[in-house]
Amino acid sequence: MSDLLSEQKRYYAERAPEYDDWWLRRGRYTRDGEQERRWLSDVAELEERLRRFVPRGDVLELAAGTGIWTRRLVPVADQVVAVDANPETLALNTPAAELVVADVFDWQPPRRFDVVFFSFWLSHVPDERFDEFWELVRFALRPDGRVFLIDSGPPEVPSDGERQVRELADGREFTIVKRFWRPEELAARVRRLGFELDLELTGNRLFIHGGSA
Ligand SMILES: C[S@@+](CC[C@H](N)C(=O)[O-])C[C@H]1O[C@@H](n2cnc3c(N)ncnc32)[C@H](O)[C@@H]1O
Repeated sequence: MSDLLSEQKRYYAERAPEYDDWWLRRGRYTRDGEQERRWLSDVAELEERLRRFVPRGDVLELAAGTGIWTRRLVPVADQVVAVDANPETLALNTPAAELVVADVFDWQPPRRFDVVFFSFWLSHVPDERFDEFWELVRFALRPDGRVFLIDSGPPEVPSDGERQVRELADGREFTIVKRFWRPEELAARVRRLGFELDLELTGNRLFIHGGSA
């Protein structure tokens, strides 16, 4: 594994106890009224889109983290297998899922699934591992299986390259991969790999989301 991917993994292990603050807009992620309103509105849109997708059957969640979305998959699915490289994040996930500590770049699904789900993960997959990651998704899916993904929307100021420096609450810095996708660009890229995805941005462009067409 590259140094960058190891550092990214370590960053999320160290960030585990403070990870949900970002999603719940707590502490240093607290925002003013209008920003807060836009965030909540886009989060509600994601939740509704996933509800309409209906993640039924056997569901595999990749890079599941602390379980923000695992907890939404569990009530609908027959079973959720939640994979993450870090025991620190899975310790905060839900025991209602089968929790598997594994690196997605080094893991073979033991069986096939009806749905593969990943949120805020694809943007952390470096370009050189992109096709390999989608090969894993293909391998994990039953022939009629479906994909659903959620990720960050494009930044207001376009960013060059695919690296970011992130800071933890205590000031420690880590370099990670962060590659933003526009819906049409991502749809075209995965179409070449055999996936037909219906992708769009949320109303305030904070998130990209969508699934098998
Ligand atoms: C941005 S978080 C997303 C977590 C969760 N999906 C969510 O939406 O809240 C990225 C997750 O990827 C995990 N991760 C990092 N590198 C990984 C790897 N190589 N294989 C599997 N998981 C990895 C981290 O531990 C972290 O939980």
